[in-house]
Formats: sequence, structure tokens, C-alpha cells
Amino acid sequence: MAPYNVRWGILATGYIAEVFVRDLLRDPAARSASDISHTVVAVSSSSSSSRAEKFISETGIPTPCAAYGSYEALVADPDVDVIYVATPHSHHFQNVMLALEAGKNVLCEKAFTVNAAQTRILVETARSKNLFLMEAVWTRYFPLSIEVRELIKAGAIGEVLRVSADLSFGDNPEEKFGTEHRMINKDLAGGALLDLGIYSLTWVFQTLYHTLPKDARKPPSRVSAHITPYHLTGADEATTILLSFPTTTPSNSEHPGESQAIASAHLRVWTDPDEKNSARPAIRIQGTKGEIQVDGPAFQPEAYRLIPLKGEGEVREKKFTFPDDGRGMYWEADEVARCLRDGKLESETLDWEESIVIMEVMDEARRQNGLTYPEKIESTVYPTQL
Ligand SMILES: NC(=O)c1ccc[n+]([C@@H]2O[C@H](COP(=O)([O-])OP(=O)(O)OC[C@H]3O[C@@H](n4cnc5c(N)ncnc54)[C@H](OP(=O)(O)O)[C@@H]3O)[C@@H](O)[C@H]2O)c1
Repeated sequence: MAPYNVRWGILATGYIAEVFVRDLLRDPAARSASDISHTVVAVSSSSSSSRAEKFISETGIPTPCAAYGSYEALVADPDVDVIYVATPHSHHFQNVMLALEAGKNVLCEKAFTVNAAQTRILVETARSKNLFLMEAVWTRYFPLSIEVRELIKAGAIGEVLRVSADLSFGDNPEEKFGTEHRMINKDLAGGALLDLGIYSLTWVFQTLYHTLPKDARKPPSRVSAHITPYHLTGADEATTILLSFPTTTPSNSEHPGESQAIASAHLRVWTDPDEKNSARPAIRIQGTKGEIQVDGPAFQPEAYRLIPLKGEGEVREKKFTFPDDGRGMYWEADEVARCLRDGKLESETLDWEESIVIMEVMDEARRQNGLTYPEKIESTVYPTQL
């Protein structure tokens, strides 16, 4: 049978759009995906159609591929099945609404929106229009992540009671970012929490929450956050969140029936200072029968170790590779294709409800620390001119 082909429209031409498109163009056979395929049929830039044309030629997208100088033109293209939104966080709500209102399915970069209220509106809009919508947390679709979740569900480390996850890049923010860069610019919803902390929370949620049956998942009962502002812009340069879940995983049977987590992100210290994995691991998943350690970075991990309790087996380490020299973004794209093929509106691996709960944790972390963004990017009014 011919593979199910998905026709992509790319909204924005920045750094991650290029990485994503290069992965989309790689041969699915290299990763043993024979049931789906991808075609990039249109690219749009908010600056000019020539910028979109340059992106098409630089990334090597085969012709025909339409080049648009506005996002409005892209979402009106009848040949596009799904739009990939790759703008800064500040713009996700407006851009996704634009696509949904035009009747397009959407894959939107993380963090989904600036706040949970915006995510809820996107979800309700997709639901009412019968459209597919997914937050692009690519890490969840890695074979490594799938295997770690399966190990937990199979009880390989017993009942999991604690997880710690970190994603930190200790670049000098004054030198690397100044004040305008999207990483620290509050007008673009910059900061460690929405950009990096989302991955630390991804590991907390995909291990402590997602490994329970859907009807047994409960949002954190307590969230405590400390935020250090970046002195030049007020965006967060460091955020640490403590969470308690009223459940344990995988059976939710352990006394006292709670699990704990630490999710952290920092722009001045490193998860892995020499970037050779000397400081491993980035993620520790601790259960009553042992531990799983994941070597970072949290967004693109390459290995895990299963460490059983003393006397109960050998340490087992498994390394993963990226087929066709890719970055690993094709696995989330394949999930989108399969969901569209199967008529699903959301991905089971990161469903709407879980995205909303995670956004609520980030809202609460900000609320406790008085971190707000400009009103127009926190707004739930569509359309709002940004
Ligand atoms: N999955 C990952 O590993 C990963 C990695 C990096 C970033 N991201 C996410 O991807 C998104 C984009 O990040 P990026 O690093 O690609 O950013 P970037 O390089 O700055 O690109 C963002 C693009 O958005 C468009 N844009 C529209 N309005 C804009 C505005 N007012 N200011 C700046 N750009 C504007 C621009 O494209 P046009 O001019 O063509 O419209 C710009 O090139 C963010 O949500 C980020 O969190 C994900």
C-alpha cells in the first residue's frame, strides 16, 4: 500500500523551522517508517516572499513549493494539510488561531502558548472545528522516551517516587542574548521557563503522569517555584519548580501515595558543562526497585541507564542513534501524519489535557513569582495585532 502522504505548510523561517524541514525531507525508510511520508508544499515568512524563497532553496525543498510573504496567504493555500508554527512563544496563540480559523490542522512549537488560558482556547477551537492540534514536544516521540515510559509501566524500577530533570545552558546571557533575543525578551515571552523548563517538566510529566492510565492521572497537588529574573529584561534566567503529585506510578499503590519532582532550568549554569556528558545524568527517575538515568540534553537525550537495587541485577546502558543523520524531529512529524491518517484530533502521547496541565504549572510558577508578560501577548483575544 502507498504510504499516507502529508502536505506541510511551514509558518516562519527561523532556526527551528530549518531544522524541522531538513528532518521532514529525510527518507522515512531510514527510520523504518514505511506507512507515512511528508511533502513540504508551502513556506511563509512574515517579512517577505523572497525570504520564503531563500528558505526553500537553502533547505533543498523540492519544487513545486509555494513561497508566501504573509502567514495569511499560507493558511489560505488549499494544498496544505497541516501547518507547522515555528514563531516565538509570544506569537503562538495568534498564529495557531489564524490557522485553525482557516480550517487547517496544526503542529505548534513549544511552549504551546504564553499561558494556559490561551491553550484552552486553541483546544476548544480545534475541537469545535474538528481539526488536529498538537504541541511540538518532539522529545516525547523519541524511541528513547517511548522505551523509558514502557520500562516504568512494566515496573522495571518499581513504584516511581521521585524524578529530577534539568535543562540548563550556562552561556553568558549578556554576551549571547543582550536584551532583544527571543530567549530573554519579555515581548517575545522569553525566559528559561517557557523555553527550557518545558523540557524539564516534560520529563517529570512523561514519567510520573503519563505512565498512569488516563483516568488515574492527577495534576500536581502542590507546586512551589523560585524564579530569578534576568536583570536586563525581567524575564526569568533561572527557574526551579518543586512538584508533588497525589499519585505514584505505575500502579499508584505505594504508601504514602505521593511522588515528588524537581524541574529546573538555568541560563548561567550548565546541565553538562563540558558538553561531553561528564556531568551525567540530566534526568533521574527513582523508584522503589532502582533508577533510570537519562543523559541529556533533556530535549535530545541519547542514552539511558537502568540501575537496579544492589543485588538485583546488572546496570544496563542503552545508547540511541538518529537515523539518516537527523536531529530527531521526524518522529513527531510521523506522529502527526499517523494521527491525520487515522482521523485523530490529538496525539495520545501528548494529549490536549496534558499540555493544559503543564501550562497550568508554568502559570502557577510565574504567579508565585510575579512574572508577567506584556498584556497583549498574555491576551486571549483573537485577533490581536502583535
Ligand atoms: N524543538 C526544539 O528543539 C526547539 C528549538 C529551538 C526553538 N524552538 C521553539 O521554536 C520557536 C521558534 O524558535 P527559533 O529558535 O526558531 O526562533 P527564531 O530563530 O528567532 O525564529 C523565529 C521566526 O519567527 C518569525 N517571527 C514572526 N514574528 C516575529 C517576531 N516578532 N520576532 C521574531 N521572530 C518572528 C520569524 O520568521 P519569518 O520572518 O519568516 O516570519 C523568525 O525567523 C519557539 O517557540 C521555540 O521555543 C524549539
